[in-house]
Amino acid sequence: VAEPDLVGRHVVISAGGTREPLDPVRFLGNRSSGKQGYALARTAVARGARVTLVSANTALADPAGVDLVRVGTALQLREAVLKAAADADAVVMAAAVADFRPAEYAGGKIKKKDGQEPAPVTLVRNPDILAEISADRAREGQVVVGFAAETDDVLANGRSKLLRKGCDLLVVNEVGEAKTFGSEENEAVILSSDGSELAVPYGPKESLADVIWDQVAPRLAARRA
Ligand code: PMT
Repeated sequence: VAEPDLVGRHVVISAGGTREPLDPVRFLGNRSSGKQGYALARTAVARGARVTLVSANTALADPAGVDLVRVGTALQLREAVLKAAADADAVVMAAAVADFRPAEYAGGKIKKKDGQEPAPVTLVRNPDILAEISADRAREGQVVVGFAAETDDVLANGRSKLLRKGCDLLVVNEVGEAKTFGSEENEAVILSSDGSELAVPYGPKESLADVIWDQVAPRLAARRA
């Protein structure tokens, strides 16, 4: 039985992967299934939290007892997360968010023309939602948690990402075509802005989620006291 250590808390979790449309039939996307974010949502409910789950392009069953907001693009995810974060005690960004989107959306399907190389796709930057929430906390003492999905120099990249993003905790996990994305299990190192680092061994995504809440709950209690 889970500790009811999130009773009375509102937590906002983003899950899944954004899709940035090029035309009505194509998009730029990523391999996130949403499983890690949904595991965070289920475990937070079990610990007594009110949960808003902002879900981008997942094919998972709706978790019981959460406010579910479905989004498609990074801009939609930003709007939904910022709105829910206004009265949140904690925000956890487990979604894989596109850093760039096509500068233009073609209203009709882009056609290939005979003998012509494809036109380059121009991309523009998406806002960094995690950095924005960390810099501009909607509530005093709001705890902000990010993830880092890395393929190389995992820990070194994670450490510099923690500084850049300005969040309280950063969950660093290694990813690959079939690693972490879509699987039932994960392993991670949780980096804290106070300098501590906690290795979480390979196991169900629920177990990692519970270790993340184990880190968040005392921070919330300390800030309210
Ligand atoms: O969904 P699963 O299949 O279970 O896989 C889980 C996962 C690998 C998607 C998850 O564990 C994970 O690592 N999520 C974060 C993926 C990601 O976008 O990482 P990043 O290193 O590119 O981004 C760092 C952080 O900034 C993330 O918290 C991300 O949500 C956030 N971000 C990124 C870009 C952006 N424009 N705005 C953001 O807020």
